Amino acid sequence: MASKTAIKLPKPEYKSKMTVEEAIAGRRTRRNFSEQPLTINELSLLLWSGQGVTEERWKHRATPSAGALYPLSLYISIKTGGVQGLDAGLYRYVPEGHYLQVREDKDISASLVDVGYSQTFFAKSPICIVITSIPKKTTWKYGKRGTQYIHFEVGHVAENIQLLGEALGLSVGLVGAFQDDKVSELLKLREGEIPLYIIPVGRRVE
Ligand SMILES: Cc1cc2nc3c(=O)[nH]c(=O)nc-3n(C[C@H](O)[C@H](O)[C@H](O)COP(=O)(O)O)c2cc1C
Repeated sequence: MASKTAIKLPKPEYKSKMTVEEAIAGRRTRRNFSEQPLTINELSLLLWSGQGVTEERWKHRATPSAGALYPLSLYISIKTGGVQGLDAGLYRYVPEGHYLQVREDKDISASLVDVGYSQTFFAKSPICIVITSIPKKTTWKYGKRGTQYIHFEVGHVAENIQLLGEALGLSVGLVGAFQDDKVSELLKLREGEIPLYIIPVGRRVE
């Protein structure tokens, strides 16, 4: 894991002062981002809240998954200077081991805005987390109903990330309106993998 293509993330620290109730009450879909970078600790927590392993025996994660089949992945587009100590590019989060896999070493953030029907509000966000799924991982067992389960699961992940962002005082947006095929191409998704949600995250504009 010391290779250039795998970057170990710091262990998540549970230090927020905000209660869950306060995070729920304060949660909003935010569309303003300052250009200040995130820290690697913040990135680590955001990814952990969405897909981190929280139970060592069975490797169950922070969000529930039908049959514990885990069909979702998190990709992270980091803009130039978007996260302290990390190069711009595209990464994939690997829950078991809590690390990032480098997929692209160039900044794709502007292209991601273009395929989001040019919703320019997230052009300034230092990172975008893209939730994808490989439906077969669930539908082999649950058939058509498995597709519904995947949609439930995406909601769990996005909600955790939004609430965690709230607890850290960050700005978290939600983008469901984008061109699926163009996002798949840009992210070079695997065979049978589809994009489901784009979540821009950054610091709030004071
Ligand atoms: C499935 C889904 C897709 C969404 N897609 C977008 C989007 O493409 N662009 C956007 O600006 N907001 C998007 N939103 C955010 C909603 O506009 C927002 O949740 C709504 O206005 C209520 O505001 P609140 O989340 O601050 O309570 C989406 C929300 C959901 C649940």
